[in-house]
Amino acid sequence: MVTILTKQNSIANHFLAELRDVNIQTDRMRFRRNLERLGEIMAYEISKTFEYKSSEVDTPLGVANTHLLSTQPVIATIIRAGLPFHQGLLNYFDGADSAFIAAYRHTKKSGEFEIHKKYQNTPNLDGKVVIMADPMLATGRSLVLCCKDLLSDYDIKELHIATIIASEEGLQHVRAFLPDVQLWIGAVDNELTSKSYIVPGLGDAGDLAFGNK
Ligand code: URA
Repeated sequence: MVTILTKQNSIANHFLAELRDVNIQTDRMRFRRNLERLGEIMAYEISKTFEYKSSEVDTPLGVANTHLLSTQPVIATIIRAGLPFHQGLLNYFDGADSAFIAAYRHTKKSGEFEIHKKYQNTPNLDGKVVIMADPMLATGRSLVLCCKDLLSDYDIKELHIATIIASEEGLQHVRAFLPDVQLWIGAVDNELTSKSYIVPGLGDAGDLAFGNK
């Protein structure tokens, strides 16, 4: 299942427009906050697919029939650009555990690159619903590698991928290699540069959020 948020008329469009805008995205605090706000909106959308249990709570004036989230998901993130987006998801799934993965592109002499995973710190994901937060889905290769590793290491109950901008190519790659995941995307852009930047995209999300290397 693929859900594209900006196909609906909502404030998500406004936050995404600010992330893309060269005249606004240089405000680093605002850029991080907009990533976080889109994480919050995505958490809300994903939460509609989760299970809830009935419960009664005491109010000052009586007893109310309510619904509580049955189990908290685990939020997994590929650092570093994913961190503000991760925080947005955690703001809503406030009892969730977190998993962190670092992966980088190793460019070979031929100009081709391969993905190397450098670090992974994750709780036990057996039986868990996992949301993998990766704001920019460019080629999809690091995302697929990280998700496949988690799926082979653990008996994950359900895997969601949350991303803010996906390239058409990256989206097709993820759908081909991870056919059972649920994808939540802000917007899909058509092109990738030779260095795998999304066009029109928004530039380098990690640099805009945290500074140049
Ligand atoms: N990562 C980014 O930050 N931007 C892109 O366009 C692609 C990957």
